[in-house]
Amino acid sequence: MCGIVGYIGKNQALPFLLDGLKRLEYRGYDSSGICLKNNSGFYLAKKPGRISELESQIDQILAKGNIGIAHTRWATHGAPNEINSHPHVDCKGSIAIVHNGIIENYNSLKELLKGEGHIFVSDTDSEVVAHLVEKFYEGDLEVAVKKSLKLIEGAYALAVLDKTSEKIVVTRKSSPLVLGIGVGEIFVASDVPAMLSKTKRVIYLDDNEVAVLTKDGYAVKNINGFVVDKEIYEVAMDVEQIEKKGFKYFMLKEIFEQPEAIENTLRGRIKDGKIRLSVNFNPREINRIIITACGTSWYSGLIGKYLIEKLSGISVEVDYASEFRYRNPIVRQDDLIIVISQSGETADTLAALEEAKKKGAKTLGIINVVGSTIAREVDSGIYLHAGPEIGVASTKAFTCQVTALTLFALYLKQERGDLPSDVILEIENIPQKIKEILKKSEEIRELAKIFKDAKNFLYLGRNLNFPVALEGALKLKEISYIHAEGYPAAEMKHGPIALVDKHMPVVFICPQDAVYSKIISNMQEIKAREGNVIAVINKEDPKIRDLANYVIKVPETIDELSPIINVVPLQLLAYHIADLKGLNVDKPRNLAKSVTVE
Ligand code: M6R
Repeated sequence: MCGIVGYIGKNQALPFLLDGLKRLEYRGYDSSGICLKNNSGFYLAKKPGRISELESQIDQILAKGNIGIAHTRWATHGAPNEINSHPHVDCKGSIAIVHNGIIENYNSLKELLKGEGHIFVSDTDSEVVAHLVEKFYEGDLEVAVKKSLKLIEGAYALAVLDKTSEKIVVTRKSSPLVLGIGVGEIFVASDVPAMLSKTKRVIYLDDNEVAVLTKDGYAVKNINGFVVDKEIYEVAMDVEQIEKKGFKYFMLKEIFEQPEAIENTLRGRIKDGKIRLSVNFNPREINRIIITACGTSWYSGLIGKYLIEKLSGISVEVDYASEFRYRNPIVRQDDLIIVISQSGETADTLAALEEAKKKGAKTLGIINVVGSTIAREVDSGIYLHAGPEIGVASTKAFTCQVTALTLFALYLKQERGDLPSDVILEIENIPQKIKEILKKSEEIRELAKIFKDAKNFLYLGRNLNFPVALEGALKLKEISYIHAEGYPAAEMKHGPIALVDKHMPVVFICPQDAVYSKIISNMQEIKAREGNVIAVINKEDPKIRDLANYVIKVPETIDELSPIINVVPLQLLAYHIADLKGLNVDKPRNLAKSVTVE
């Protein structure tokens, strides 16, 4: 969701800016632009559509300069056209800005500035920033930006240039921004992958900090002007990790990375039959847990509820972060709030975390992106170590989140004096079992060929596999644009069964678990209405072979771990259907990888 890139240093800025923008493409965007500063002023280029279209419009002779900012925009205020694309400039064209986030009071600021004679050209909220900086500019860009920030309400990451000084001023509030420290050059971006080919030494800016970047280095100050001594982190990720390694799409690569990603989530956390997690609260003092998240992370939270309640006996509620933040939730001091987020930057999840902290609860984050805002805000955390997830549709983050939640449920059980558990023995076999499923990718592609033109899909599961049904349906609709619904299998007869006829594919997730006989009855109900049954099973059963039109067999495991196994064929089914339809699997329309606006 919008991406910022900036460069100042000894080299030409353009190659890094374009490369950086491409590396942020996964965040989702619908237009892009650059602004380079050189001796003759600004070189500005903007274009709706893909970055390649911007690239082909850039005049390689004129686009010179050692200082520049660039942006991918995901439209919120105003259509995705050239005028609304960033960078935006002030009335005189001497200040250029790129912005991520939403300026909530932009209407009143715009009226104020218009009243003072400023001329606006776009429909965006962001343009007010360029005019505000112009209003306060008296020769010092940093001062003008700081004065502007005092008037701005909302969320922002900003990079600002002016025509006269040799600097970039950057700042953030509730939107990520990272500095990359090179030799004789400084990079800035919304996310680390943008700069990984140049440097692994990074600084994560915090809210309300303002950094001034020059060719000689950087200075970070807080909003009151005091210098902040920022820690430089050495990033562990490699450039190869963010490349496709021969896979057609990142999503497919990430599906295939799951065995290794889960091993990484488990690494060092089980020793001598005991769970080792470091949290700074006493698990015996937790009375209730509230899990809050969005999208796929919410679904893993729902599985977490089943697991934690089953293994530790602690009551768990699961709340959409966007609802939690606004409904004045009842939160007690002995509650633990778990926030789950792959990116660690989701605006609603961050706001839910802030709400929980305000109310005095203890907080735990289950996060993939190291150093992300949520990861830094929680009291304790469990990193997934799944590696970068670039495909917009979350896959390996989901299975690693469920793995981390399983570890946490076991940890609670252990700390409350009740181990061992057969889950500990089995969880280490899961990566190998996923490898077995991945061998069925071509078989699942054949199935995808049969169903790629379906208009609707139902996904049904029970108990721990009900959230798997939700996740299977979300994967399909996100990337193939086929309408799909996930339901608890028994709930289906309270409404959705009206949709079932011979054109309706119905995916059943039906391992032989405690509710197996119940789900068989649900399957019979679908069959009686001529539904097209696709069954994900883990044991042969003639009854299923009779009822189902198609069967995908996955390895057996214990009930608690079956969601991690069962979701993999559903990821593959969604992937192959979308690919066969010729769609851009990694960048589905209208979606952003990191949803940093509410
Ligand atoms: O980064 P997060 O885990 O906080 O993201 C939450 C959702 O936006 C995300 O899971 C979304 O639903 C994905 N597109 C699912 O594939």
